[in-house]
Amino acid sequence: MNTAIAHTNIALIKYWGKQDEQLRLPLMSSLSMTLDAFYTDTSIEFADEDKFYLNGTLQTDASAQRVFTYIHKLQALLNLRPESVVIKSVNHVPTAAGLASSSSAFAALAGAFNRLYKLDLNHKQLSILARIGSGSASRSIFGGFSIWKKGVTSDDSFAYPIDENPTMDLHLLAIELDTKPKSLSSTEGMKLAKTSPFFNHWLEANDSELDAMISAINNNDFTALGELAEYNANEMHAINLSAKPGFTYFVPETLKAIELIHTLRKNGIECYYTIDAGPNVKVLCQLKNVKDIQKYFVSEFNNVKIVSASFGPGISYLD
Ligand code: ADP
Ligand code: DP6
Ligand code: CO
Repeated sequence: MNTAIAHTNIALIKYWGKQDEQLRLPLMSSLSMTLDAFYTDTSIEFADEDKFYLNGTLQTDASAQRVFTYIHKLQALLNLRPESVVIKSVNHVPTAAGLASSSSAFAALAGAFNRLYKLDLNHKQLSILARIGSGSASRSIFGGFSIWKKGVTSDDSFAYPIDENPTMDLHLLAIELDTKPKSLSSTEGMKLAKTSPFFNHWLEANDSELDAMISAINNNDFTALGELAEYNANEMHAINLSAKPGFTYFVPETLKAIELIHTLRKNGIECYYTIDAGPNVKVLCQLKNVKDIQKYFVSEFNNVKIVSASFGPGISYLD
């Protein structure tokens, strides 16, 4: 009943800093690729009491609170009756491990909510609702490459697709180094990041980095895309280290993975990394190198789980 399916997306130009915490208005624009291999399906029904099941287990912790607060916020925003709901969600992605579970989760939840109240929202409106749940979710409404322009108000901060069915030869290998839930959520991490003296530079560079990434995509230029995605991720992690107090999502294996990517490149296997708010590393590469890169990581990390992904679709509904 009222079931929506949304895929995760990984940002190549990252969202990391808000201008408005409540509405999740970002301080920068971002650009991402939606993945085929990771997704969330979520259903919602009216009930006597708010309940949230994740992967079959009733949740009573902060994640349940986050979901109920979100639903009540949407009800108020859209002048809907504040009814209780039962939400059942399954993550086909590790939860809260820096593999973007909140992107697919809140896109799917916005979609399920749309069905529950028969709102018949278009994708732009859905992107706005998803954004209010988790900023990155705004981009998971769409498949392929999408851009979330930062906007000024809630009504003009939404994502849109630049190419929903890209023909670019681009693959992402998720190296699952540690999939336990992180201790510092993305929401909290990006608040802290604003205290870095380099945060202003991060904002100033956003327009030109976004333009350069769009050009790389338009020119089908894998090298330019990879170099810039890697640089943008490094900038984000540098502002975390230089925050006050400084912090990092990296674990020792994260640094080892980065080193392995440098070695691969030196040996003529072109690949780049991007890393989000968690220790897991995503390798960007072309199809011809997927097998060799996988083999190398499996041997160096003693059978680590690697998920191979490419472009995924936008939101869909089960019924
Ligand atoms: P991630 O890197 O996985 O996106 P975040 O810190 O951004 O990590 O978000 C993780 C949080 O998102 C979880 O702690 C939980 O509150 C919420 N979340 C994840 N999956 C779901 C889901 N399927 N339904 C509702 N909320 C979810
Ligand atoms: C590093 O969208 O998870 O993955 O809006 O607070 O829920 P909230 O944060 P979230 O942040 C994503 C951060 C990122 C980069 C990105 O996806 O753009
Ligand atoms: Co997230």
